[in-house]
Amino acid sequence: MGVDTAALRRCQMAVDLGASRTRIHVRDEGLVVDEPSLTAVDARSGSVVAVGSVAARMLGRVPGHIHVSRPMDSGTVADMDLAQSMLRHMVGRHVLPLRRGRRRARAVVAVPYGSGPLTRKAAVDALSALGIRHVELVAAPVAAALGCGFETDHAEPVMLVDCGATITQIAVVAFGEVISGTVVPVGGDAIEHAVTEHVLARHGLELPTGGPRDICVRLGHDDTFPVTGKDIRSGWARNAAVDAAALRAVIGVSLVPILDGIGAVLRNLSADLVVDLAARGLTMLGGASEIPGIEATIRAATGMPVRIEPDPRSRVVDGLARLIDAKPSRRPAEQPVAPEGPIEATPVTDVEDFASVA
Ligand SMILES: Nc1ncnc2c1ncn2[C@@H]1O[C@H](COP(=O)(O)OP(=O)(O)OP(=O)(O)O)[C@@H](O)[C@H]1O
Ligand SMILES: [Mg+2]
Repeated sequence: MGVDTAALRRCQMAVDLGASRTRIHVRDEGLVVDEPSLTAVDARSGSVVAVGSVAARMLGRVPGHIHVSRPMDSGTVADMDLAQSMLRHMVGRHVLPLRRGRRRARAVVAVPYGSGPLTRKAAVDALSALGIRHVELVAAPVAAALGCGFETDHAEPVMLVDCGATITQIAVVAFGEVISGTVVPVGGDAIEHAVTEHVLARHGLELPTGGPRDICVRLGHDDTFPVTGKDIRSGWARNAAVDAAALRAVIGVSLVPILDGIGAVLRNLSADLVVDLAARGLTMLGGASEIPGIEATIRAATGMPVRIEPDPRSRVVDGLARLIDAKPSRRPAEQPVAPEGPIEATPVTDVEDFASVA
């Protein structure tokens, strides 16, 4: 699917609606939102009382009538009303410059590779809450490739593994298009859930919010380390020494679907490409790629060199930002000629176009 790069350059806003975090780049302003994708709703009044990092601080610490939840899940909008509310609160004053004059507010959003019409429509509808009337959709692996520094005319296929919170997107990208890709419903959440279950079963401790992530982050450093949680029998807070090797084994099991996904993507390619990719290796991004050991597990299973991008959580929004910030060349004749259809996206996606979908 080709793209109108000129249409993307007319977008003022680039959006990565992640299940864990929402990242929004506004042209001429930079990254204006990088916050947890969370809303806190007072069930008695039905009103949103907090979003983003303020809502994150409420997790597990507020009375029962305050519901803290994620409006996004598995690469799509799970609760449209909450998603729209969250975006309105987060973006706030940054919307004003987009509406200046008679310009039609335009945005580009990343959607998972292979997204169907409902996911695409949901991304468009979510942004309509900001008054955006024209939305371009770009496949997340294509944005990720740009965010990792590959140009849209990069001819050698690159393999990217974006391990987010709820999904892992595995894709081989060349010339700004996905030539083989899949989405696996496993990410940092599943890994953290496996850690939570292990500590509960082995030590009888219920971990606080953020506890499994702290364990994952510290996993690389020590053989055993202390954790604090709630003893499920006594109800008191208690410490336990968790064995790192046992945890690494638990995490290894939750990575199996990702390894299967890498195999499935490679099986779609010719032997020539597979051999090339085996030599070049794969690039990891997404927050969960930072969990210690994940890269070594993938390297051991596939035999491929594995590289983790610096600041891996921002690669997708950075790639989108490159698309909207790109300045048209003043002297096009001197630029290398890009092949047709370098970026994968819908050519034009108006909110109205989706009226008949769903
Ligand atoms: N130090 C860390 N800080 C934050 N997240 C971390 C850290 N280390 C690992 N993670 C993992 O990164 C995940 C979030 O990654 P990321 O921000 O790429 O997800 P997302 O894009 O919001 O989600 P998705 O792509 O599934 O929609 C969390 O689930 C967590 O498990
Ligand atoms: Mg993501």
